[in-house]
Amino acid sequence: MVAPPMDGFHRRIDYLRLSITDRCNLRCRYCMPSQGIPKLKHEEILRYEEIMRVAHIAVRMGMSKIRITGGEPLVRKDLLYLCENISKIPGLSSLSITTNGVLLGRFAESLFSAGIRRINISLDTLKRDKFFSITRVDCFEEVWRGILAAQKAGISPIKLNTVIMRGTNDDEIEDLARLTVDYPLHVRFIELMPFQSNESLTQSEFVSSDEILERLHAIAPLDHVPGPEGNGPASHFRLSGAQGTIGIISPISHHFCAECNRLRLTADGKLRTCLFSTEETDLRDLLRDSASDESIIQTIREAIRSKPERHTLDRAFSRKCFSRPMSAIGG
Ligand code: GTP
Ligand code: 5AD
Ligand code: SF4
Repeated sequence: MVAPPMDGFHRRIDYLRLSITDRCNLRCRYCMPSQGIPKLKHEEILRYEEIMRVAHIAVRMGMSKIRITGGEPLVRKDLLYLCENISKIPGLSSLSITTNGVLLGRFAESLFSAGIRRINISLDTLKRDKFFSITRVDCFEEVWRGILAAQKAGISPIKLNTVIMRGTNDDEIEDLARLTVDYPLHVRFIELMPFQSNESLTQSEFVSSDEILERLHAIAPLDHVPGPEGNGPASHFRLSGAQGTIGIISPISHHFCAECNRLRLTADGKLRTCLFSTEETDLRDLLRDSASDESIIQTIREAIRSKPERHTLDRAFSRKCFSRPMSAIGG
């Protein structure tokens, strides 16, 4: 196996996140405005052959983990074909997906057969009405059925991504945490990140990970534990006797940039070395101009070398991230 590429701050970049579409069947408040965002044109989006080529090249360079993201990846046609192909790349150790779960009931089994072993699903509430007010679509039941279908299909670990917003779902921190007792689910509380595309959010809605942890400590003793399989930025805890873990992801109050191992490719073929970057490196023209693998590798290496040391957003929301919206990056 080739050693993964290193960036300018001695971080090993071994995890590629492939956003395969900017489309989404939800309109989560923290992600996009109610009217959605302008969609990429069909011809702007990388074809599966182009995405697969990048995936093969990345693994050849030593990146061993790939996550498929969106928008909502399950809305793109023939996704299973892509997963099957990528999962068979020799040297790839893990293929995972991040989804909102709406279509998961339909896809869970075939995703497993296509090589998906780990899944992260967005779920911010256990209440149908609130689900509607956060995502602007009434489909809590579908998502819950999707989560159970993923479990039945044997996908493991199943991680739930929960973005906490004061006044919206902070009253459910305890109930969401207790899910880990009843189900083998890993619930991750994520700090709200300020993006220009969620302009309606205010600083007063931000809940820090310290506050979330305090609330959790008050319900029961929490043990600090190693996390489930993954590559991500969460710290993990377990309620006594629980089947799953509680993860805390604090990109704002305790940023984890020093451990960042990620490289992202957007649906329109731009490499992003930081979730909050305003700079991108285009791969699409290279892919479409019959560039050699070597020149693509060279471009990826250069992008990795220029990965910023850290982001500079803060909890005061004094500066919103003016990059693409989250839905066009893939989280
Ligand atoms: P695994 O450990 O492989 O499961 O990865 P993960 O936890 O990164 O996966 P997921 O896509 O579910 O990410 C969870 C959330 O963590 C994202 O949606 C973001 O909100 C946040 N996050 C992930 N990566 C980064 C990052 O590089 N920077 C920041 N600031 N936040 C991130
Ligand atoms: N802040 C924090 N997390 C976010 N996500 C999307 N937008 C935001 C935001 N503004 C997370 C969701 C989803 C993942 C892809 O990104 O939890 O699961
Ligand atoms: Fe869609 Fe995910 Fe954004 Fe929600 S957070 S609107 S599910 S892309």
